[in-house]
Amino acid sequence: IDSPIAGDQVAEVNLPASANPNSPYAWPKERKILSTRVNRIDGPLKVSGRAKYSYDVKRPGLLYGRILRSPHPHARITSIDLAPALAMKGVKAAVTIAKPGGKVMYVGDEVAAVAAATEDQARDAARAIKVEYEVLPFLASVEQALRPEAPPVFDGGNVKASQTEEEGNLQAGFAAAAHVVEQTYNTQVQTHVSLETHGCVCEWEGEKLTAWVSTQAVHGTREGFATSLGIPQANVRVITEHMGGGFGSKFGPDVQGIACARLAKEAKAPVQLMLDRREEHLAAGNRPSAYAKIKAGVSADGMLTAFDAETWGTGGAGASSGFPLPYIYTFPNRRRVHKDVYINAGQQRAMRAPGHPQGCFITEMLMDELADRVKMDPIEFRIRNLPPQAPNAMWREYFKVGASKFGWDKRHATGDPAPGPIKRGMGCAANRWGGGGRGTQAQCEILPDGGVVVRCGTQDLGVGTRTLIAVIAAETLGLQVKDIKVEIGDSNYPFSGGSGGSTTAPAVSPAIRVTVSKALQELATRVAPAIGVPAAQVTASNGRVHARDAPSKGLSWADACKRLQTTPVSVNAAWEAGLSASGSSGVQFAEVSVDVETGVAKVDRILCVQDCGLIVNQLTAESQCIGGMIMGVGYALYEDRILDRNTAAQVNPNMEWYMVPGMSDIPKIDIMLMNQPERGVIGIGEPPTISTAAAIANAVANAIGVRVRSIPLTPQKVI
Ligand code: MOS
Repeated sequence: IDSPIAGDQVAEVNLPASANPNSPYAWPKERKILSTRVNRIDGPLKVSGRAKYSYDVKRPGLLYGRILRSPHPHARITSIDLAPALAMKGVKAAVTIAKPGGKVMYVGDEVAAVAAATEDQARDAARAIKVEYEVLPFLASVEQALRPEAPPVFDGGNVKASQTEEEGNLQAGFAAAAHVVEQTYNTQVQTHVSLETHGCVCEWEGEKLTAWVSTQAVHGTREGFATSLGIPQANVRVITEHMGGGFGSKFGPDVQGIACARLAKEAKAPVQLMLDRREEHLAAGNRPSAYAKIKAGVSADGMLTAFDAETWGTGGAGASSGFPLPYIYTFPNRRRVHKDVYINAGQQRAMRAPGHPQGCFITEMLMDELADRVKMDPIEFRIRNLPPQAPNAMWREYFKVGASKFGWDKRHATGDPAPGPIKRGMGCAANRWGGGGRGTQAQCEILPDGGVVVRCGTQDLGVGTRTLIAVIAAETLGLQVKDIKVEIGDSNYPFSGGSGGSTTAPAVSPAIRVTVSKALQELATRVAPAIGVPAAQVTASNGRVHARDAPSKGLSWADACKRLQTTPVSVNAAWEAGLSASGSSGVQFAEVSVDVETGVAKVDRILCVQDCGLIVNQLTAESQCIGGMIMGVGYALYEDRILDRNTAAQVNPNMEWYMVPGMSDIPKIDIMLMNQPERGVIGIGEPPTISTAAAIANAVANAIGVRVRSIPLTPQKVI
């Protein structure tokens, strides 16, 4: 991976500066560890299998929980009889989740749960629960739900129209158009496929609950348990030492977590309840589908003039399907009407940049079609139609820098004229995400033996949060990353919010910087007399605590800490403004090869140009981009929740038929991260996944000279 720090490469980018250079905690101008490539401090634990995930928590006397799920897409429950399950060998507890008289709304909806001594006993016992259903009419597809004769399945209707968005004058816009494009675009439902499935271990000690949960919000999950179980938050402790991904689907205890806590209470024993891969596909959330029927106009000189869209999508059983449209580019006269279509399928849940990949795919496909009509290069056309306000200058610059690095000038116009079945093409797309963070607290201890402990109630989805904390603490104290002990993933630690919306780095980094700086001030106050200068003139660097203007006048870190004797430094502090910001923008380029005899499309390479404020750790920031783009490759080419039209059951709730990219599907990836130290820390968990599918789909159209307006671009669609 070729990844220059782009400050060297991009001369004049008009950046909205956000960090406050006068903050007493301002990021250092000369950075020793910050912005370098630092390996994950928990990497060795993970690759050697010693890292403990929720599944690895095996408490003494542990029972195993299992959920009974509805086999029907829509039914009223007449009765639930737990007795046959409770009579079985090894079974210690059973609870109902749905209530008699209540409804199940999709295949996989939760009905009841059991806990038993072994996983097999629990599985058998769940099957033995006797449930009587009154089967009701159901909707298995968007097309079916939209028909006027569709049965009324959802209270208030199968379709919920939202407000019309309108701006400017459509009629005038179309009158000014030299060309008008009318097309329909659509995206599929993408299910959550975190490597680690949802689940937890729950253990009660009297009225106090400890839950080891795979969650991206330990404090939020504590609140969720307390609210659902009707107990004080102080009686709940949530621990997440390591987790294998969440992507927006793991913010709370969820139905299975509450069931697990109830089973543990009833059985008076710890219970583990982890979903299997099938349950994960059915009930752990998904990215809604999106459809857009669009009429758009462009003037002869390549300016967008009008945009009229009717959009819809499904978030499953009674959930919304919104997405931003048009995305990024400015259509001066526009109207959009959106409706949510409900079907009997698992509900949507936030998934990495919710809504943006759909809006980006639809808009960027349309942009290429319009550019073709006016016979303009797609990048020139895009730049011409960027919004008048920031970060327009960044997109313009990134399109130019990226195009030159990618070799965009070698792109042919439409349809690869090369002989033979393999056709190559290039495409591009832009992205935008907000994602500032705030409201995090932290604790820093400096111990008499020189040890440093930093505690924070954030969590590490797997992206490197622990390492980010160690990097900031080490930089601030003039120590090495290995000198810092980081403790996170526990609701007993100081408050931090959920790791969602790309908010973790901008929320956590300032809190750590402020807290560790204050701890250093405290140490300075304690050792200043020994150094012989006022505390305000004491600083730390290169493993020493010393006078700011005379580095030789001071103590080694170990000697300074020894002077703390029996009273360690212990400081609690919180996030402050002026050290982080929101807003990342980027562009991506893709090159593909398409075999027009088999319809198989392969992504050869992707270039990602993304800005991300002050880079804390170059390595893990790049990893966010790599992961985001690989997820985008899956969205473009493979992933698709397929429902059986006759039963509304998912036919591919596994990882054999619900395909995600494998190693051989992953293209060569180049990343240009734009280091912007003057902006402070920004999160980039989400932006890099937004524009990948759009760039790939545009590259496929460029390769074969025919536009497939629907993802995933499976061989049968391409051929
Ligand atoms: Mo995200 S979809 O806010 O984890």
